[in-house]
Formats: sequence, C-alpha cells, structure tokens
Amino acid sequence: MRGVNASPAIPADRVRLSVAPMMDWTDSHCRAFHRVLAPHARLYSEMVHANAVIHGDRARLLAMDPSEHPVALQLGGSEPALLAQAARIGAEAGFDEINLNCGCPSDRVQAGRFGACLMREPALVAESVAAMIAACPVPVTVKCRLGVDDDHEWERFVHFIDTIAAAGCRSFIVHARNAWLQGLSPKENREVPPLRYDWAYRLKRERPALQVVVNGGIADAAEASAHLAHVDGAMLGRAAYHTPYLLHELDVAWFGGALRSRAELLRAYRPYVEAQLARGVFLKHITRHLLGLFAGQPGGRAFRQVLSEGAHRPGAGWALVEQALALTERAQAA
Ligand SMILES: Cc1cc2nc3c(=O)[nH]c(=O)nc-3n(C[C@H](O)[C@H](O)[C@H](O)COP(=O)(O)O)c2cc1C
Repeated sequence: MRGVNASPAIPADRVRLSVAPMMDWTDSHCRAFHRVLAPHARLYSEMVHANAVIHGDRARLLAMDPSEHPVALQLGGSEPALLAQAARIGAEAGFDEINLNCGCPSDRVQAGRFGACLMREPALVAESVAAMIAACPVPVTVKCRLGVDDDHEWERFVHFIDTIAAAGCRSFIVHARNAWLQGLSPKENREVPPLRYDWAYRLKRERPALQVVVNGGIADAAEASAHLAHVDGAMLGRAAYHTPYLLHELDVAWFGGALRSRAELLRAYRPYVEAQLARGVFLKHITRHLLGLFAGQPGGRAFRQVLSEGAHRPGAGWALVEQALALTERAQAA
C-alpha cells in the first residue's frame, strides 16, 4: 500500500449493520426513521449520479437531517474527475462516507457506463476511487456484485477487488450474486441470479485486512446474525424497508439496549415529522416509509390503510399517525 493514499478506516462496529442504498426509498425521511429504529446502523442514500451532484439541485439531492449520521452518499458514475468533484461536494455537505455504485444493472445505467458494468473495468474503478480518496477526507467504499453475466471465475472477482484495494479502498459491500446485463429487469436482477454468500466469506478469509459487508436476500434476524461469523457486516435492503422493526431488533441484539415497542419508536420519530411538516413537507412523503412498521402484527393492515388513504389529504398531520396507531393498538388489545 506504500505510495497509495488509503481511504480512512471505518470503525468495525460502524459497519456491522447497514441499510442498503435504494432509489426512491432511502431518502432523508426514510433514513431519519431508520435512525430512530437503529441508532447504530450505517445508512446509505439513494444513488445520485456524479453529474447531478455537480450540476443539479444539491439542496434536494443531498438533503440530509443531522440525526442521520453516520450516513453515506452513494454515487454513480465512471469519470474519475467528476466522481472526485462529487465526492468532495458530498463530504462537504456532511456525508460520513462516499460509496461508489458498481452493482446497479439497469439499461439506463449501462448506457452511461456505470453501475454493474464497471465490474468489467477494474482499472477505471481503481482510478475513480483513487481520485475520490484524494479529493475528500471521509472513507470511500465500493458496493459491487460478484460479477456480470457469465463471469463465474473467482480470480476475476478477486482481481477486481484487489485492483481497487490497491487504489486505497478498504471497505467493500458485496451484493452476493451476479448482475445479468441482458434480459433481466433491475427487479429480476435482485432475485433471479443465485446468491453465493460463500464468495463474500472467502473474500474476508483471504483478504482479512479488508472490511467486507455482505448484502442480498437477508430476510430475518437469524440470517443476518449468521453472516457475522464470516464477514464484518450485514447490509439489509428490502427486508429493512418492508419490515423496519427488524432493524430495531438487530440493533438491540447486536449493540445492546432495551427493546422498545413499535408505538414508542413511532412517537420518537414525531419531532422529526412535525419539524418537516412545519417546513411545508407533505405528510405522505414521510408516511410512505412507515407503512411496514406493523407488518405481520395484528392491526398492521389498518395502520397501513389509514396512512395510505389519509396522508395525501390537504392538511394531513401527526393526528393521522396517532389515529392509525390507535386503531392498531385496539386491534392488538383485542
Ligand atoms: C427499490 C430499490 C432500489 C435500489 N436502488 C439501489 C441504488 O440506488 N444503489 C444500489 O447500489 N443498489 C440499489 N438497490 C439494491 C439494494 O441496495 C440491494 O443491493 C439489493 O436490494 C439486495 O439487497 P436485499 O436483498 O437486502 O434487498 C436497490 C434495491 C431496491 C429494492
């Protein structure tokens, strides 16, 4: 590593639990909610293209509440100079980490030559990462797949990782399946290519100095905990979004503290919601992230229904959330 400007390390207990970057889902309101549930989790933004960070509406794209820390900005792109500039802007905006997306398989992304197709361009990713590390003081990390299409050789995968690690990146999030660039939608690409956690485990075994976080298909607390025997952390995406109480259970199980009820956590989020409403944010933009809080619980459907139906009405405020909660609590008592 001599001569290489290494990215700062992330403390081990800060990578154990994380919530995946998810477009249209992990906006600032969602992250602030997840923070209430999981005080120790690392949170990730939606992917923002480097060009958008540089030329776009930064106030909107980089919106972040101080309660969210530690929170990472995920960038898309493949031009080292632009990524470096965007990384600097992200760090100046207060993000604690800049993550480079090397895993997204959508057509739009492939046309722009970023996301998962970068798995076949390790030298370009290394150059990008080196430029980002030189441009900003916070950790620069990479989220990738195991390969694209029919790439199934371990050597190719580990060459990708080694090339980027040699550029100074110490921390990798591995969505443990291939991306198929032809014929699958992004949604299918999160479900169809088989999961192979053993490659993430092997990476950690063979490159113990690197931080390896495993992602993909982690559905419950037992599965998430099992990964910790092999890698540094578990990143949850859809399960965290659809059943957010799981985040709270994991945070308590892995970091300690007392388990709080769903209602208690929801009320702890109230000051954030009221501050946003006072700024003119519509309730529906916030409550859409809360719908899964009572998933699988008595009254869970009523909670969802009251919020879905009422939150778009003019003047909808915290009272609606209390109304949904009251119905749910009544169902639970019965
Ligand atoms: C709605 C949605 C949007 C996503 N957007 C992104 C994104 O912006 N950047 C990214 O790296 N991955 C994105 N992903 C992939 C997730 O980060 C994660 O890798 C994937 O869902 C697998 O994890 P899971 O099985 O725990 O959901 C997205 C996934 C979903 C469901």
